[in-house]
Amino acid sequence: MAHIAHNPDARPDYKTTVELGAVLPQTAEVRDGHLYIGGLDTVALAQEYGTALYVMDETHIRTQLRNFLEWTRYHWKDVDVAFAGKAFLCRAMCQLVAEEGCYLDVASGGELACALAAGFPPEHILAHGNNKTIRELTEAIDAGVGRIVVDSFEELARVNALATERAQSQAVLIRVTPGIVADTHAYIQTGGEDSKFGFGLANGLALRAITEALELDGIELVGLHMHIGSQIFALNSYAKAIEVIVHFMDTVRTETGFTVAELDTGGGLGIAYGVPDEPATIKQFGKVIVDDIKEHCEQHGLPVPHIIVEPGRSVAANAGVTLYTVGTIKRIPEVRTYVAVDGGMTDNIRTALYDAHYEAVIANRADAPRDSIVTVAGKHCESGDIVLIDAPIQTPVLGDVLCVFGTGAYCQSMASNYNKQVRPAVVFVRDGAARLVVRRETYEDLMRCDVG
Ligand code: LLP
Repeated sequence: MAHIAHNPDARPDYKTTVELGAVLPQTAEVRDGHLYIGGLDTVALAQEYGTALYVMDETHIRTQLRNFLEWTRYHWKDVDVAFAGKAFLCRAMCQLVAEEGCYLDVASGGELACALAAGFPPEHILAHGNNKTIRELTEAIDAGVGRIVVDSFEELARVNALATERAQSQAVLIRVTPGIVADTHAYIQTGGEDSKFGFGLANGLALRAITEALELDGIELVGLHMHIGSQIFALNSYAKAIEVIVHFMDTVRTETGFTVAELDTGGGLGIAYGVPDEPATIKQFGKVIVDDIKEHCEQHGLPVPHIIVEPGRSVAANAGVTLYTVGTIKRIPEVRTYVAVDGGMTDNIRTALYDAHYEAVIANRADAPRDSIVTVAGKHCESGDIVLIDAPIQTPVLGDVLCVFGTGAYCQSMASNYNKQVRPAVVFVRDGAARLVVRRETYEDLMRCDVG
């Protein structure tokens, strides 16, 4: 396939599963040749729940959330951690996030509905989106969400009108684009001047939005929000953005008399999809975010605001794996070996969309060296339907269970029904127990909305 680039460096790496380190869920281990997560045999999970299957390590998710709380509050007590629901959301996840004492960032009416159905406290919800509909704004205000993150002048007017009609005033953050281009894939950069998100600082729009917000009775301006991108490895992108935004907070105070009481620095911390990836740790992230805000606020004589961080991927991605059953194996002489699985771009669009890279193992021979180079293809009618390109795995045979790591974020949440594929179930595993939190779709589900 011309557009699936060959990786000339692809070689068996002879690593066994346990050597994949940070790519693995924290409770991953190999027992009698099988991959275990949360104390459970993934091969048995595949048999019990069927494949394709998302398996999430609950301990991993909880540990990540606790680490974010610990390593941000270590530097400043007044910090909250909001899990970015777009990375992975279902009712069980909302409940888990609430149990860990974290906030939730929702980016649509659907995400808000899921959080409310899970009983998530609305005052701990931040409502995001660059084009929230009137219905979504109404639902957010009526639910009593803690913050609406305002993204445009139209939205400021709409929130004001809706809140005023209800004789209320809605707490808002103004989303600003600090003009920092983070070192990541262009599709997931969001903090530059040329962005559909937020108000620019350099062009004066952010200051104008604040000035307008302060005049509106239905708006209770609390502070600012920024999000510079996703899968960010270089923490200095955050440091630069914080310097710029705190400088702006000083300008705001001088120009309007308003003191920013809350600063949300968004998400974006990168993770290890592959063995060579060395993302910053949560501890390093916490130090840069909080210490830099404190330091710049002191320099400008500003009070240190309530800080919010919004991690998504770094909480959920490495917690999750996708289990597939190996189907046809096509060895095309001098071209490549295609291993087809019972899923693909419908449960993981990230390879097709971003050239994402994943590590995988055969879960039922997890202690064997990864001695074959294969391209793992999905089952859909699209030649770009690829999960792994020229990747090392144990030599596969029909019926093996293939486990792809790092799929806990932006896979289930971006899944589709292309080819009328039913979307996989999600199982949470912890301490030797599994619980089904999202069941597999049925053919009836696929036609539930057909009314003709
Ligand atoms: N806060 C806001 C306002 C965001 O837009 C995002 C992600 C986050 C927080 C969480 O960022 P994280 O910690 O997960 O990097 N579909 C893409 C990622 C899109 C990210 C969109 N915004 C992917 O699969 O890589």
